[in-house]
Amino acid sequence: MAFLSDTLARVKPSPTIAVTTKAQELKAQGRDIIGLGAGEPDFDTPENIRNAAKAAIDAGKTRYTAVDGIPELKKAICAKFLRENGLTYQPNQITVGTGGKQILYNALMATCNPGDEVIIPAPYWVSYPDMVLLAGGTPVPVVAGIETQFKLTAAQLEAAITPKTKWFIFNSPSNPTGAGYTEAELRALTDVLMRHPHVWIMSDDMYEHLVFDDFKFVTPAQIEPGLYDRTLTCNGTSKAYAMTGWRIGYAGGPVHLIKAMGTIQSQSTSNPCSVSQYAALEALNGTQDYLAPHRALFQRRRDLVVDMLNQAKGVTCPKPEGAFYVYPDISGCIGKTSAAGTLIKDDEAFASALLEETGVAVVFGAAFGLSPNFRVSYATSEAILEDACRRIQDFCAGLK
Ligand SMILES: Cc1ncc(COP(=O)(O)O)c(C=O)c1O
Repeated sequence: MAFLSDTLARVKPSPTIAVTTKAQELKAQGRDIIGLGAGEPDFDTPENIRNAAKAAIDAGKTRYTAVDGIPELKKAICAKFLRENGLTYQPNQITVGTGGKQILYNALMATCNPGDEVIIPAPYWVSYPDMVLLAGGTPVPVVAGIETQFKLTAAQLEAAITPKTKWFIFNSPSNPTGAGYTEAELRALTDVLMRHPHVWIMSDDMYEHLVFDDFKFVTPAQIEPGLYDRTLTCNGTSKAYAMTGWRIGYAGGPVHLIKAMGTIQSQSTSNPCSVSQYAALEALNGTQDYLAPHRALFQRRRDLVVDMLNQAKGVTCPKPEGAFYVYPDISGCIGKTSAAGTLIKDDEAFASALLEETGVAVVFGAAFGLSPNFRVSYATSEAILEDACRRIQDFCAGLK
């Protein structure tokens, strides 16, 4: 009898975490490493949120809570959905979990049966396909390339839907590309979905607040009320409020789905951390004043990185609407040899040689389902980004 499960054999460890770990190892050996792999803001959780957490500890809010969230937080989430997205949910339509990740995982575990297909636009956040596989479903990646700024078209979505399609996972702004769908672009997709009433929509709005220029964020159930009854609108405090370590994610959706997700959670982790829930309550109900300065900072960094990467030989870097990632195409580098003699046969070889030879850690595109590319997380200072981009330029200039 095998010790490890067949389920485990279906999935792989997160490649983004692997890159971060490798960069940390090299740093510990004394190497001069710049990590552009991690997907988290580089600033501290705002003070009012930290204080709310401290107050919660002192008030003894340290016991088990209701499995899928304290009533105050559910109320705050309902208010947030109404205020920011024009969506009306009642508290029994809200679930709170340990990060956005657990929310998506619960939803897939609660709904996927063998043979069920889940459409995932590629490039995708690395966890989507593996979570579908863990849940016993079949991921159906559909590549949306650089020619459409990494956005899925209506025709592509239409062609991917089959009688077995259970979910369509939508993520805007996107990890790893930063691409954000305009209302018109999203409307083209929701029109298709309206014609296929058996398909459910999982909208991952994690980067909602990180949008630039005059881009206006929209979410499917908001622009197409006809989809409200089969949409799970997912969000969380990790990225907008610099709260990645606190682990709070949430979703709004139909009562029967929310209840089913709570059942999965009740037999796995139970409630998300009680103290973190009080911190999230303050994040949503307290001042939102720091969101705009954070956005402005990220926008400056995006502009710097896009400009500098487009000056690197063989690299084409689109300018995304949001998040804190860019996803440059490196077709012009493939097949060449690095200054230290490594053949750049694919984007994994590129990222590996870049790390070895220049100390810059990025994540290779194959991990996200579209090659040859790499992902840069620009959630770090402009000085560090400039240094990193200059090293990438030198590396590319040295390719023969
Ligand atoms: C697109 C997307 N969704 C969800 C998550 C998960 O966020 P959390 O840290 O709250 O689990 C991430 C985190 O990287 C993400 O990039």
